[in-house]
Amino acid sequence: MTSNATVRLTLPGGVEVELPILEGTLGPKVVDIRRLYAATGMFTYDPGYTATASCRSAITYIDGEAGILLYRGYRIEELATKSDFLEVAYLLLNGELPTRQQKQQFVHDITYHTMLHEQIQFLFRGFRRDAHPMAVMIAVVGALSAFYHEDLDVEDAHHRLVATHRMIAKMPTIAAWAYKYSIGHPFIYPRNDLEYAANFLHMMFATPCEPYRVDPVLARALDRIFILHADHEQNASTSTVRLVGSTGASPYAAVAAGIASLWGPAHGGANEAVVNMLEQIGSVERIPEFIARAKDKNDPFRLMGFGHRVYKNYDPRAAVLKQSADEVLDLLGKKENKKLQIARELEKIALNDEYFQERKLFPNVDFYSGIILEAMGIPRHMFTAIFALARTVGWMAQWNEMILDPEQKIGRPRQLYTGPAERPFLPIDARG
Ligand code: CMC
Repeated sequence: MTSNATVRLTLPGGVEVELPILEGTLGPKVVDIRRLYAATGMFTYDPGYTATASCRSAITYIDGEAGILLYRGYRIEELATKSDFLEVAYLLLNGELPTRQQKQQFVHDITYHTMLHEQIQFLFRGFRRDAHPMAVMIAVVGALSAFYHEDLDVEDAHHRLVATHRMIAKMPTIAAWAYKYSIGHPFIYPRNDLEYAANFLHMMFATPCEPYRVDPVLARALDRIFILHADHEQNASTSTVRLVGSTGASPYAAVAAGIASLWGPAHGGANEAVVNMLEQIGSVERIPEFIARAKDKNDPFRLMGFGHRVYKNYDPRAAVLKQSADEVLDLLGKKENKKLQIARELEKIALNDEYFQERKLFPNVDFYSGIILEAMGIPRHMFTAIFALARTVGWMAQWNEMILDPEQKIGRPRQLYTGPAERPFLPIDARG
């Protein structure tokens, strides 16, 4: 949306430029600087994009000050408790919640794309058994572009739809197989009679030797974790997917890049880092020592699962997960879980500490998710893979939105050059 308002910029030398102010449905207005360079010869400087809107988007909205997260206008807390992952996926992709018939069709479309081309098994087999599942997933998802390149014209709506279904459907199979390969177990094929999260758990934990019954309580808890991770507007990995996709590249290659971006400990890798940190702390008595380290600017240690670029309040996803952690551990008879006790106490101490209060550092989505996943028997090195599995929906929704955006251009930031000015080449004998 465009408002009539403008902002006037006066440059040294008296040159004036008037820039339009754009207004969305919610959130801060933005200054449209597209004309700035042509009018003034100047760029803007914003490392880390702390004050830059890179696109228009109608998918997800975050009010970081208030701790609110909306998917297509619906509160995350409501979706996490009243909906299910594939319904939320449909909502993110299409903008509206599905009717019963639309949902049935969507679930069918996803379910019937879960199988991987048999040849893909050999890709897995090329890896060392101790390879991190995220490394394997980057490679296998990237390789999907080699399997589905003939029927993929990104300008064709049907092709995009099939690629979207394939990506969401195959991700659980790829993630579960990365795990099976790492422990030397046979791959378990997807089962169409199981729901999305249950099918993933089955591929993770079943063996060909005996029947494996998925606990519906665990499947529901995992489904909720998927919902909470499904999208989060223009975060690092989503921006990566958009940037790669903006060149017209295959969406499978773009998602592979998104997985790579998600892997870092400042982003999706934090859930694994949180559990490692809780283990390292070891006991409630040692919490003050780690709080002191987190505050010490000479120590690189940070409280993992704390702080967020956008949230300056409690991350609403962390609030849902905190409650979920209590429920799941109770159901599993692991109420006295030591890591959960340390996490709760750590949160209490940090939230009452001036350092964290001043900087508005609160628990984020990764703070409690790892504890739940670990209690479910999911190994630590799979945590970020599960984040990637769920975020695939957001990546595909944002990729589709980008392709359809008439203002979309290849992503190409500029820079503030600080290298040497032009100088003559010196022959090797003339160099000191
Ligand atoms: N522990 C201790 N101090 C912290 C922490 C932390 N976890 N997070 C931020 N700070 C301090 C930081 O040192 C800085 O202090 P000062 O102003 O004195 O220099 C101030 O708070 C602002 O931090 P920043 O690094 O400028 O903030 P940012 O927006 O660039 O970084 C963040 C955000 C999430 C990378 C950061 O808070 C962090 O490293 N957190 C731990 C890792 C983590 O939990 N990541 C998951 C993010 S949520 C899920 C996802 O995105 O995947």
